[in-house]
Amino acid sequence: MEDKVFVESEEARKFVAAILEGNGVPRDNATLIARCLVAADLRGIDTHGMNRIPSYMERIRQGVLDPKASPTIEHVTPVVAKVDGHNGFGFLAAHDGMAAAIDSAKTFGIGMASVAHSNHFGMSAWIVQQALDANMMSLVFTNSSPALPAWGGKSKLMGVSPIACGAPGKDKPFILDMAPSIAARGKVYKAKRRGEKIPLDWALDKEGRPTDDPEAALDGGVMLPMGGPKGSALSIMMDVFSGVLSGSAFAGHVTNPYDPSKPADVGHFLVAIKPDLFMDLEHFKDRMQYLYDRVVGSDKAAGVGRIYFPGELEILTQVERLKTGIPLVQAEVDSLNAEAEKIGTTGLIIKSAAARSSK
Ligand SMILES: NC(=O)c1ccc[n+]([C@@H]2O[C@H](COP(=O)([O-])OP(=O)(O)OC[C@H]3O[C@@H](n4cnc5c(N)ncnc54)[C@H](O)[C@@H]3O)[C@@H](O)[C@H]2O)c1
Repeated sequence: MEDKVFVESEEARKFVAAILEGNGVPRDNATLIARCLVAADLRGIDTHGMNRIPSYMERIRQGVLDPKASPTIEHVTPVVAKVDGHNGFGFLAAHDGMAAAIDSAKTFGIGMASVAHSNHFGMSAWIVQQALDANMMSLVFTNSSPALPAWGGKSKLMGVSPIACGAPGKDKPFILDMAPSIAARGKVYKAKRRGEKIPLDWALDKEGRPTDDPEAALDGGVMLPMGGPKGSALSIMMDVFSGVLSGSAFAGHVTNPYDPSKPADVGHFLVAIKPDLFMDLEHFKDRMQYLYDRVVGSDKAAGVGRIYFPGELEILTQVERLKTGIPLVQAEVDSLNAEAEKIGTTGLIIKSAAARSSK
């Protein structure tokens, strides 16, 4: 637990966009990337928000991520788009891929985009939200750098690659966004940044022993898959759809976003589906509401105060953080301000300070 300071989301977006622009990212692209990163902070996914900026900027400085690149799109069939990220920000390639999938789905009911030569796109839920904003269901897959062993293996090979999907509801959308590990590796990086321990069931150290030390988990250790062989298989599934299919790196060859020695070559797989293919949209949304009511209204197990729909906790966090601001620890502010200093811009404006919180 450490004292937190709070930053307004609008200030965070402006600050992040300024750093991106100062590092050569064109203004419109910088605005989009900043919006996606701060969306993660607002939803409580601090592991994939603005704290990623220093590592992304290091990749630009080392010449392994092209700040000026914009994706290109080729339409392979009326419903299939092939996106080349040209080693630019993953946020841009995934955004344009989902936009193309949504366009196809509006006319043909379904649209799919395969994205190659991209980079880390942070929290998958922002792409699910992009589809929800157009009243679309979606599948959002990506591959990522080695972190998990294949089931039975001892070295990291497959990525902790998130599986995400969504569907619009009446006012409560369904948003599933989960890594196939017990915990996302970003949570280990966050614990390391914040000087915290991790639960013993998240990772093994390089000797294959359970560890609560984030440093030991990251230094030659492995993350543990959720559900044993099933989590491992889901991770391989992300690689089949995102890596093998797209022509991007796969089978353990994607570069870690914190490794600035070579391009990442990440692949993504994005699908948009029109929910009113078989009934009108209002009827679909009524059925989603019925599902929501059945889920959250189901009998609670002992000790459970409230049952939540997937994505609901993050929406509640967003409502709260829009009021309180985004919590950061001082070490995170310092490392963001060090990036601001490098490009001669002003530091992050703090809204308020010193609330004790474990979140
Ligand atoms: N781009 C990448 O390479 C990459 C890699 C790993 C993770 N990530 C991101 O990291 C984030 C965190 O992933 P995670 O697996 O740690 O997520 P998580 O375990 O916090 O949540 C997973 C899912 O379970 C739901 N959920 C959680 N608690 C719940 C509860 N009590 N009741 C009902 N539903 C609940 C959430 O709404 C979410 O949809 C995701 O946004 C993911 O996209 C990105």
